[in-house]
Amino acid sequence: MSFKTIERQAPVRAYRSKLFVPGSRPELFAKAAAGAADVLCLDIEDAVAPSDKDKARENIVAALNDIDFGGKTVTARINGLDTHWCYRDVIALVERGGERLDAILIPKVGCAADVYAIDVLVTQASQAVGRKKRIGLEVLIETVLGLENIHEIAGASRRLESLHFGSADFAASQRMRTTNIGGANAGYAVLTDKDGDTPRDSHWNDLWHYPIFRMVTACRAHGLTPVDGPFGDYADQDGFRAQATRSAILGCEGKWAIHPSQVALCNEVFTPPQQEVARARAILAAMKDAQAKGLGAVSLDGVLIDAASIRQAETIVAQMALIEARGS
Ligand code: COA
Ligand code: MG
Repeated sequence: MSFKTIERQAPVRAYRSKLFVPGSRPELFAKAAAGAADVLCLDIEDAVAPSDKDKARENIVAALNDIDFGGKTVTARINGLDTHWCYRDVIALVERGGERLDAILIPKVGCAADVYAIDVLVTQASQAVGRKKRIGLEVLIETVLGLENIHEIAGASRRLESLHFGSADFAASQRMRTTNIGGANAGYAVLTDKDGDTPRDSHWNDLWHYPIFRMVTACRAHGLTPVDGPFGDYADQDGFRAQATRSAILGCEGKWAIHPSQVALCNEVFTPPQQEVARARAILAAMKDAQAKGLGAVSLDGVLIDAASIRQAETIVAQMALIEARGS
């Protein structure tokens, strides 16, 4: 290990599913509050038409004061720093949203100064009203600039809790030739080599592998929680499960749900499977036994395990403990 240690800055809480609710549809707030999502995101940005921004902001302020969100983590997505709605969103949420709001999601962050600017506003507004609970910041990586500057962004504020990957805006920013929101694209594939007349297979690749992998690495280096973003085709449950499972295996702790039907899928995929938890516990027990005998590396069911296996297994056991503490 390096002499430099990484402390977990993010609050330790379950983040398997983050259900988005447009601020312009207040009739959905109570349904979302009663559902099974670990986290809610009340949106004033892209799910809300420009003509509805002011109304959506007020709807969210009212909901934060009036609705019982139970044990959920409650967040709101503000408009980007390039819009005139942005500062009003922050001031309204922090000054008039009461103590219920847990975090603010900043979209389209491009550099560390974007986070700094919102931190300044949140800090001043919090002080002005004597807010007791500290509001966290969440960052949406969804532009090429954000991905290029991700390391400095991830270290930009002590309020930062999580990074999220937004595939649709990212694709637009990179001018990728795709209109899917998350998921696969048949054109992004490799063909197996020519072998006489044998039919050649086409193997689809994961368009989102690099940015998600990069985001998870930046998060872990700064003690933040990595979260995968939206999957637009909410009728395609298998496609969602496949994308979410890839993200979970890379280290993401959760994914967005843009329709209530995706919440259960998120909770399922981001809860470590029973056999993986059992295997992790068996590794910890076997290594404890090995260490008592003065052994560093041993075999468990014919497979090598050593000190690194302890760290891998502890990750899975700790994630499970977090989810059990959430109680759903
Ligand atoms: N939160 C809570 N409840 C929701 C919901 C949401 N985001 N979206 C739909 N519902 C409810 C509906 O009210 C309906 O409830 P009912 O059975 O009591 O009538 C039920 O879930 C089924 O909804 P459905 O009719 O299939 O959806 P819809 O056509 O009303 O809306 C979307 C579909 C995609 C427009 C809507 O889910 C939505 O706005 N999602 C969030 C989009 C968003 O925020 N995008 C930004 C981030 S990418
Ligand atoms: Mg976006």
